[in-house]
Amino acid sequence: MKGLRPVGILGTGSYTPERVLSNFDLEKMVDTSDEWIVSRTGIRERRISAPEQASSDLAFEAAKKALAKANVSAEQLDMIIVATVTPDMSFPSTACLLQDKLGAKKAGAMDLSAACTGFLYGITTAAQFIANGLYKHVLVVGVETLSKITNYKDRNTCVLFGDGAGAAVLGPVKEGYGFQSFELGADGSGGQLLCLPAGGSRIPASTESVANDLHYLSMAGGEVFKFAVRVMNSATEAVLAKAGLERDEIDLLVPHQANKRIIDSAVQRFGLSEDKVVVNLDRYGNMSSASIPVALDEAVAEGRVKEGDNLVFVGFGGGLTWGAALLKWSTTPAEGSNA
Ligand code: UT7
Repeated sequence: MKGLRPVGILGTGSYTPERVLSNFDLEKMVDTSDEWIVSRTGIRERRISAPEQASSDLAFEAAKKALAKANVSAEQLDMIIVATVTPDMSFPSTACLLQDKLGAKKAGAMDLSAACTGFLYGITTAAQFIANGLYKHVLVVGVETLSKITNYKDRNTCVLFGDGAGAAVLGPVKEGYGFQSFELGADGSGGQLLCLPAGGSRIPASTESVANDLHYLSMAGGEVFKFAVRVMNSATEAVLAKAGLERDEIDLLVPHQANKRIIDSAVQRFGLSEDKVVVNLDRYGNMSSASIPVALDEAVAEGRVKEGDNLVFVGFGGGLTWGAALLKWSTTPAEGSNA
């Protein structure tokens, strides 16, 4: 963000529902095994939202924590961006519902659709508003209630996904810190590989669409796997190059949590030791847009992130989409900016 005012993350927060669904629970639901799931994905358990919990409820819990950590009030927010593929409803946006819950009266609000890359598209968008001086504080939330669109009769998908929310408050930070580079990409020709076929204008909801299981997430796992390995590496390379940093200058990699084998391929490629990579998919599975912000919030809470550290966020998913961001960490607001 050369020549513009530096933007960073002032505070993070996360929330995951109480109910735990373990691999052993899934063994009783479909023809699978803990051994298969752990060896093929690294996932051991995931969280499932209560029937009455919608995405805006999870987002609200995560957002409150992020605002408190950032020492920013809801009234100080200029914009709310919610990245989700599981909105409460088609419209109004989940961001508007969240704005009301928070009482963020001065904030604009919009949802952003980039599937598992949603948080990265969200922070990239938010950072531009702040860098160019239009806004001071933007809340970005990645939230999913994927259990509501998962077919618990399909072993190919139901073992992978979980529910959760992660939030970050972005604002101006002191000179020399903040986001150094971004990379966003898309390949719409692969859209069918990971999608929710019905419920939109192409196949509106009907008794037939429900009977044909078209309101459940559908994924060609193998093809998405190959794509994921490729773009994790290229997107990480791109943000390093744009920021003028070498591989060994990465202090912490916060990757999308889809599959441990995908993360391992990037770890090998970039020669990272285990302490430089955040992995929490064993406890949460793939929470799509919530994966990266929840992983980041946990890393911060565990004291794994220090002032001046170079963090790389990298993700991929439906669209197909991918993205990465390189952040030189500081939560210290730029002088006089916390008004
Ligand atoms: O965040 C969005 C992006 N999504 C992803 O990144 C997901 C990327 N893909 C993956 O993570 C992996 O492709 C999966 C975990 C989905 C699947 O792993 P895989 O090693 O690619 O397995 P596979 O699809 O090649 O399936 C191998 C076998 C198949 O049996 P056959 O046809 O060889 O007899 C599947 O039917 O494993 C079977 N299988 C299962 N077996 C037990 C698939 N799911 C299960 C299961 N339990 N849950």
